[in-house]
Amino acid sequence: MPVPDSSRISPDALRRLVEPNRVHRSIYVDPAIFALEMERIFERTWIYVAHESQLPKPGDYLTTQIGRQPMVIVRHDDGSIRALYNRCGHRGARLVGGAGNVRHFRCCYHGWTFRTDGSVLSVPLRRGYDGTAFDVADRAFWMPSAPRVDSYRGFVFASLAAEGPDLRSFLDGIVTSLDDIADRAPSGRIEIADPPFRVLQRNNWKLFLENLNDTMHALSVHESAIESARTQLAEMSDPETPADSWVGETLSTIGKNGTPQSIMDRIGVAGFPHGHSFMGGFFNPDSYERPYVAALEQARGTERMREILSVNRHNSIIYPSMTIQAAYHQLRVIRPLAVDRTLVEAYTFRLIGAAPESYRRTLAYAMLMNSPSSNMMPDDLEAFERVQHGLDVRAGEWVSFHRNDGRDTVADGAFTGTGTSELPMRNQARAWLELMTAE
Ligand code: FES
Ligand SMILES: [Fe+2]
Repeated sequence: MPVPDSSRISPDALRRLVEPNRVHRSIYVDPAIFALEMERIFERTWIYVAHESQLPKPGDYLTTQIGRQPMVIVRHDDGSIRALYNRCGHRGARLVGGAGNVRHFRCCYHGWTFRTDGSVLSVPLRRGYDGTAFDVADRAFWMPSAPRVDSYRGFVFASLAAEGPDLRSFLDGIVTSLDDIADRAPSGRIEIADPPFRVLQRNNWKLFLENLNDTMHALSVHESAIESARTQLAEMSDPETPADSWVGETLSTIGKNGTPQSIMDRIGVAGFPHGHSFMGGFFNPDSYERPYVAALEQARGTERMREILSVNRHNSIIYPSMTIQAAYHQLRVIRPLAVDRTLVEAYTFRLIGAAPESYRRTLAYAMLMNSPSSNMMPDDLEAFERVQHGLDVRAGEWVSFHRNDGRDTVADGAFTGTGTSELPMRNQARAWLELMTAE
C-alpha cells in the first residue's frame, strides 16, 4: 500500500490550515494529513485502551489499536496492566487477536512464546542459537512495550511517547467527568457490561468529535426522531410508572434534542487544555429508580448522594479517543481507520453495588442512542457523510467555527461558553494544531 507523503507538510503549512475560528477543509480529506495525525496525535498523546474491569485476572488480555499500531493490553502476573505491541520478536508475526486469558503468548508461526510483560519465555530448539547474538534477555527479541501506561478510576490509557505530560495533567479539568461516571456507583466502581456495539462511520474522525458537543445540530438533523419520540411518549399511558420509567426517560431525552435553541444556549459548554470538553445535560435526576438512589444514599450519605446526582453533563469528550455520557453509563471509543473511515465502539457500564434496574435503563439508552439500531444515529451518520463529501469541493476552502467566537470566558486555562457556542470545535482545533506542530 503506498504510504501518503506527509513529509511535505511543514509546521508552517499546518499553521496556515487552522485559524482561531475556522479550519481548512484539507484536514478532513487529505490522506497525508491523516498519516501525520496518526504519527503526531494518536501515536504520541494518551489514548484510552481499556477499562480495568475487562482485565480482572493475570493473563486477561484484549487487542486494540493505538493510531496505526496493533496493541495487546494485558494484565501481568504482578497485577500491573501492560500495553504491548502485537508483534512477535522473531520475524514480526501478529501474535494474538480478540480477547481472552493466556498463561503466555505463543506465536503461530515458529512457536516462540512470550510472557505477559513481553519478555521471551522460550524458543524451540534453543541450541540453534548457541554462538549467535540471540539472547532472551535482549529486548530486541521481546514484544515491544508502550513506554507509558496509566489509569484513572479504572480507565486505562497508554501513550506511545516516552515524554509528555503525565496522565493526570493531560486529563486536566475533564477528570471530573470520569469521577462523575464512577461516583454514580454506590461502590465508587463500575465495570464494562458487555462487548461493544461497533459502528463503522464513513467520515473523518474529527467530524464525529466535533458533533458531540454541537447542540445546534440536534433540532435540525434529528427532526423526525424527535417527533416520533414525542409521539410515543404521548401514547404511553403513564411514563412515570416504575416499569416504564427508563423507556420514558430515554424517549424524553430524544425528545429533548428538540429543545429550542434559545434554551439549549443555557445548558453551557466547557473546554479544557488538550482538546477536552463537555456540554451540560438534559438528564432528569428524578427519573432514577428508588432502589438505586437508596443504595447510593446508604453507601455515601444523603448529602453526597445529592451532590453526585446533581452533576448534569451530556457528552464529555476526552480528546482524541473517547467520549462518555456519565448519567447514562455509556462510553464510546474512537478509532480512526482512514481519512474517511472511523470505527466507533459503544460500551455500557454496570454500577457495582447498584440495583439491577439501573442497568436496564443503561441498556435501553444504548439501544436507542448508541447501537447500530438506534433511530437517532443514522441522522448523524448521514450528516457526517454529507460533510465528508462536501469537503471534497475545492471551491469552498474553509470550515466555520465562528459561532459565539470572542465570547468564551477563560479562567484557569478552562473555557466556558453558552450551550450553542462552537467553543468545543475551536478548542479541538487548537489542540490539534498544538499536537501536530509539537517537536
Ligand atoms: S514469527 Fe513468531 S515465532 Fe517466528
Ligand atoms: Fe446528533
